[in-house]
Amino acid sequence: MVNDIKIEIDYGPLAVLIGVWEGDRGEDVAPEPEGEENNPYYETIVFEAIGDVTNAESQTLVALHYRQIVKRKSDDKVFHDETGYWMWDAESDTVMHSLTIPRAVALLAGGKARKEGEATVFEVSAKLGDSDWAIIQSPFMQNKAKTTAFAHTISVTANELIYAETTMLDIYGRSFEHTDKNVLKRQA
Ligand code: HEM
Repeated sequence: MVNDIKIEIDYGPLAVLIGVWEGDRGEDVAPEPEGEENNPYYETIVFEAIGDVTNAESQTLVALHYRQIVKRKSDDKVFHDETGYWMWDAESDTVMHSLTIPRAVALLAGGKARKEGEATVFEVSAKLGDSDWAIIQSPFMQNKAKTTAFAHTISVTANELIYAETTMLDIYGRSFEHTDKNVLKRQA
């Protein structure tokens, strides 16, 4: 069960993510039937500490819930809406990132966090068919716009969050590298 006493919990490397982040230097490269589209964007990501969870009475995870709302600069409309959890298993020192997007695609990525000077760097990935860190998607997406791999790096210092993610797609008869990156500042 999720613990109600959230404040006393040690969120390990995830602690640096907690808060509200905004950034307007987003660069999206997305597939088009004949090539690609490039979308400058701005966004808000909110990470909320939600407590800890015990699995099979032997594993304890600490977890953050997040919501990411991304708007195109060209028309100020939301064009990406993502939610999920970041989880950390202290015993195995594993970071897990689950995400869902309303294209009927979800995944569970796994990896590690490490210190690089002042920064905490998270690196997680998932692959279609992987027995540990996998991707699930609707029959339509499997046929028409299949996500085959996902890799995500976040680097966080006290007030800055930089991320880069690559989503590999099989779409329009080819393999496409769908990429997104941004620099966000912590909001007071
Ligand atoms: C900031 C993050 C992201 C932004 C701004 C973004 C934006 C976009 C855009 C503009 C398209 C093209 C849509 C169209 O042509 O109608 C697209 C396609 C797609 N994206 Fe993303 N995306 C992001 C992250 C992701 C992630 C994390 C995944 C999955 C792990 C994902 C999966 C897909 C898929 C499967 C498509 C193909 C659908 C299509 O083009 O018709 N995207 N995305």
